[in-house]
Amino acid sequence: MKHTLIKHILAATQPRESVTVKGWIRTRRDSKGFSFLELNDGSCLANLQAIVDAGTPGSEALPHLTTGASVVVEGNIVPSPAPGQKWELRATRIELIGPADTTYPLQKKGHTMEFLRTIAHLRPRSNLFGAVFRTRSKLAFAVHDFFQSRDFVYVHTPIITASDCEGAGEMFRVTTLKGKPEEKPEADFFGKPTFLTVSGQLEAETFACALSNVYTFGPTFRAENSNTARHAAEFWMIEPEMAFCDLKGDMDLGEEFIKAMARYALEHCAEDVAFFCKFVDKGLNERLKFVVERPFVRVPYTEAVEILNKSGKQFEFPVSYGQNLQSEHERFLTEEHFKSPTTVFNYPREIKPFYMRLNDDAKTVTAMDVLVPGIGEVIGGAQREERPGQLAENLKFHKLNEQDYWWYSDLRKYGTVPHAGFGLGFERLLMFLTGVSNIRDVIPFARTPGNAEF
Ligand code: 4AD
Ligand code: MG
Repeated sequence: MKHTLIKHILAATQPRESVTVKGWIRTRRDSKGFSFLELNDGSCLANLQAIVDAGTPGSEALPHLTTGASVVVEGNIVPSPAPGQKWELRATRIELIGPADTTYPLQKKGHTMEFLRTIAHLRPRSNLFGAVFRTRSKLAFAVHDFFQSRDFVYVHTPIITASDCEGAGEMFRVTTLKGKPEEKPEADFFGKPTFLTVSGQLEAETFACALSNVYTFGPTFRAENSNTARHAAEFWMIEPEMAFCDLKGDMDLGEEFIKAMARYALEHCAEDVAFFCKFVDKGLNERLKFVVERPFVRVPYTEAVEILNKSGKQFEFPVSYGQNLQSEHERFLTEEHFKSPTTVFNYPREIKPFYMRLNDDAKTVTAMDVLVPGIGEVIGGAQREERPGQLAENLKFHKLNEQDYWWYSDLRKYGTVPHAGFGLGFERLLMFLTGVSNIRDVIPFARTPGNAEF
């Protein structure tokens, strides 16, 4: 018989006869003449309580229905007399599918995130990780919905690439050569050095310069050796790119996008958001509403540096014009000073990549970073340099080889247009929308320095 997901059973408006439920036992309690089973199938946070009378067909298996075992329960959905639940399942037949060994590590008492990371294959069965990964799925859909409803074209950019978009040199080499691939790159599979992509931006730009508005959404890789709560070696990035668009249009889209994601979480992930609010981050609901309702602050980099210098705060890293903002500076601006998501724009050209458009002051480029409380940078973007001569000068300035960017420069040669885009780290967005404070806990299988077990 076809089975019904628990989320649909719990959303029922009237009693139902003869349903089949399949899931895993969270707990079993035996009473005189009957047993209570708490069942969960991951379709929602809540468990379904099943009542199994002694003598119910299959009930001889009851002693084996321990926490973690998988079962089939058939029965009738009736109103529950117990508080806090509308429906319960009166079993007419039960069947053990797979018993759980007594070493099953997930118990009813809460476990630490650190412990759960060591059992990444089982952690989706916990309340918290079920909620995180349902939310992740819903928001992935929301990302596509946001762009598709605005006529953006989804472009699949390559995972293996020869160009270091960000120029930071933090790339994973891809090679079929044994030994030292850097010694004879021409003998390698692609005939040149190749890497896992750090960003699909350069390729996305080529498509924007043909299809107008495009976006990518896929895995990206960075060999940054920073073991922080916000960096992963493999993470998913969303990169919209718009032709005929300037920095302001880019900042507007970034803000609109984050607001739309917060609204989607509130509307479509309500049960899980309520759970995060209760157990992870008490201020979450308020914050999401605040994000949806209030415009973000916008501040030029130069002014942000002045604010930091005048703050009287002791930072670990000193602040001065021409230096990158550190995480502590970003968080001071968004959490303490503005108390709002904040877009910082027009950064010094030295600290930003070659592709950003040089401003008329010849010192700053049209960069913009969106900073949010609890995380810091969630978006990095820019209006791109569309003037062929200036692009060539930018490449020189950053000591890059013009030939390596011939196809990128061609876009400026043949019908160039002002264009702009950004990259948003999907995991950082999820951290912001769930309150979960470590990036390892919002990605199913985290890749971080020294860690690729699962
Ligand atoms: O600021 P980034 O480096 O910008 C780019 O890659 C541009 N090419 C994007 C573009 O304009 N199309 O990275 C963009 C975002 C960051 O703001 C951050 O949210 C996320 O990607 N990110 C990371 N997320 C997790 N782990 C890491 N190691 C990350 N590095 C960047
Ligand atoms: Mg950045």
